[in-house]
Amino acid sequence: MGDENKNIPDWKADFPISKTEAGYVARRDFLKVITLFSGIMAVASVFIPVFNFFHKRKQIKDYFVCNTSELAIGGQKTFYVDGDHRNPYMLIRLAENDWRVYEQKCTHLSCAVIYDHEHQMIECPCHHGFFDAKDGKVLQGPPPRPLPQLGVVIKDNKIFVEDYTYEKQINHKAHS
Ligand code: FES
Repeated sequence: MGDENKNIPDWKADFPISKTEAGYVARRDFLKVITLFSGIMAVASVFIPVFNFFHKRKQIKDYFVCNTSELAIGGQKTFYVDGDHRNPYMLIRLAENDWRVYEQKCTHLSCAVIYDHEHQMIECPCHHGFFDAKDGKVLQGPPPRPLPQLGVVIKDNKIFVEDYTYEKQINHKAHS
């Protein structure tokens, strides 16, 4: 057995695969990488929504965002409450006296969403999810839930946000 190996060069001993089999090795390695990548994606798609669900944030009350004059009709402004960069929010101006604030993270896999004023929708460019700009409800695509929103309170042409409750928003509209 020792004599048979004498004439084999070192590189061939280290990599004992013939030229014809080399293609199969490359394909096998490629499949391994694809399988690993798919596994990571599957784990992430479960982990991210579960993490977001259990990640509780502080209560929000009377947080100043900007002056009404800073955002034109159809505009969008991203902001963070108390410097918490994990939760971006978007203030949007639907009409002269019609404002909304939503979390800027899609409820599918947390991509940043964008306001489309022309169609009065909020779009997620990652997998073409669409939300209604009026109430954040899902119109189309994979997002499983509406966009969470904050309540908007306007005092002296200043915009404040607070935790959203349907009753409070109705009252603010009745008094504004
Ligand atoms: S992350 Fe928004 S639709 Fe998938």
